[in-house]
Formats: sequence, C-alpha cells, structure tokens
Amino acid sequence: MEERLFNQEADLNELSFEQSLRPQNLKQYIGQDKVKANLSVYIEAARMREETLDHVLLYGPPGLGKTTLAVIIANEMGVNIRTTSGPAIERPGDLAAILSALEPGDVLFIDEIHRLPRVVEEVLYPAMEDFCLDIVVGKGPEARSIRIDLPPFTLVGATTRAGSLSAPLRDRFGVLSRLEYYTENHLTDIIIRTGRIMDTEMDDQAASELARRSRGTPRIANRLLRRVRDFAQVRGDGTITAELADYALELMQVDRLGLDHIDHKLLKGIIEKFRGGPVGLETIAATIGEEAHTIEDVYEPYLLQVGFLQRTPRGRMATQLVYDHFGLEMPER
Ligand code: ADE
Repeated sequence: MEERLFNQEADLNELSFEQSLRPQNLKQYIGQDKVKANLSVYIEAARMREETLDHVLLYGPPGLGKTTLAVIIANEMGVNIRTTSGPAIERPGDLAAILSALEPGDVLFIDEIHRLPRVVEEVLYPAMEDFCLDIVVGKGPEARSIRIDLPPFTLVGATTRAGSLSAPLRDRFGVLSRLEYYTENHLTDIIIRTGRIMDTEMDDQAASELARRSRGTPRIANRLLRRVRDFAQVRGDGTITAELADYALELMQVDRLGLDHIDHKLLKGIIEKFRGGPVGLETIAATIGEEAHTIEDVYEPYLLQVGFLQRTPRGRMATQLVYDHFGLEMPER
C-alpha cells in the first residue's frame, strides 16, 4: 500500500498531543446535541442488527469536530478507522488500493471529500452502493470490465462545502449531518475539559472569556487556551485568570469578539477601500493578500453567521454591526 494514500498519523490517534485532547466517544463529546442524538440512534440500530453503519456525510465550517466525530463513530461501532483526503486520491487506482485494503466493517474517513476528482468519484459510487469495484482492464476493443467484491464498510465524508459535492455523491450518503457553531456555554465546557486534561489551573471566568473569543469553534478555543497557558506560565504563576487571559489575548491580537488580525484586515479592507462594499470576493482577496477560497471557507462563514458580513448578488458588504464594533460612521449608500 502506498503510504501517501492514508494519513497514518491520523490513524494512530493516541499519538499526538492535539489528538490526546479529543473526546473518544459520544458521551465525552460536548455540543452538537442534535447530531449526537441522531448518530447515537443510528449507531445503536446498526449494532443491534450487526450491520455496518450507513455512510455518513459531515459538513460545516472548519474546526467544529468533523474528524473527531469520524473517530468517535468508529470507536462507538467498535471498528478501525482509515483516514485519507479528497486531494490525496488522484486516480481511480488510488481509491481501488484504499478500498481493497479495508477490513470488514471499517470506517473509511475521507476529509475534504468535495475535492475528489470526478473520475475517482465514479469508482466510489458502486463501492458505496454495492460494495464492489468495477475495473476496466485492457485497452480498445480488448477492454473489459471486471467486478471485485469489497468488504462492507462505512464511508464518513467531511466537507466544508456541501454545495460543492455532486448530487450523485451526496445522494449516496444515508446520514447527512450539519455541524453548527458552538454556543458559548458548550465552548466553556470544552475549555474546562481541555484545561483539566492539560493539568492547568483556570478560573471559571477565564474559561468563559476564552469561550467568548473563540468564534464558536473548538479548534480555536483549544489553540487560544494553549497559548494563554504559555503566558500564564511565563508571565504569571501558572494559573489562568480572567485578567491574564485578557492580557494574553490582547497581545495575540484577538479582540473582544474573538476577531483576529485577518478578520480585521478583511473587514477594514471592505470599509476603507470599498466604502463598505458591495465588493467581489476575488477583489477582496487580491486586496488583502489572502486566497479567495480561504476567505470563503475559513473566515467568511463566522462573519456571516454573526451578521458582520452580508452576501449580496453584487458582492460582500460590511454591516452596521462592523461599523459599530470599530467605532466608525457608516457612509450613506
Ligand atoms: N475538544 C474539541 N472539541 C470537543 C468537543 N466537541 N467535545 C469535547 N472536547 C472537545
């Protein structure tokens, strides 16, 4: 098996520090209550029938726990997980190699599944539907198709863009779960849990302050927590107090609402260079020196969700809320 096809590190999920923080089962997983409640029924039903779980598509903004949930699904089903990603699978033969290496019942996790090449997608359809591969051997008039049986497996796909998935692929998932931004209360609980695992003293108020400034995203919450913990260790007595968290976040250029310097660059760019918009995504990207797809997948979803940015047919616009947040006067439009 070619190593580039699988993400070996992700499979050995006890290895890295980041992964040791991750919840291992649904009970430990905080937030996403609807997704969790439904998944637990589907998992229990599949287990009772001694069947593989139907294929699951997890979609939503980055950092909300799609990979973590894939690992949890495998753990709850009592099976192994193999991890790969859309861009790693370049040719139909790559996918054939991955699928034929699976053990019965395995979870195959494909991250960024919207980036699978179309020719690879077509090999995936019969694999998902009938657990078989149709492979063409030979060329020209000699060419014929042979069918190879695969072990039954559960495909867990993850994407930040459900809309970029082709309809035939989307339709082959039996479970579609959309992950939402986390509430402040859930993020506070996640931060307290991570703090305990890291053996760090932290005030409750500090945990809520970090939660407020994590843009609804556990990955950001845990990253800020690790950096604030560094400040507590070097500049304080090791305990994370609300005051210390505030001091550290200020130095890290994370503002009261959790917006970082790239959010600022984006919003101020629209305000200062385009009188608040509307302005096209590509134009903003060129102006601030970020990739358009990074803005669209990583930065924009949260700004849209909290009402700082509006998407109109003529482009993006900064809202009154942004002007208020920056203490600026909104121009007449
Ligand atoms: N760490 C990161 N995300 C988490 C979650 N949803 N629940 C518990 N711990 C987490």
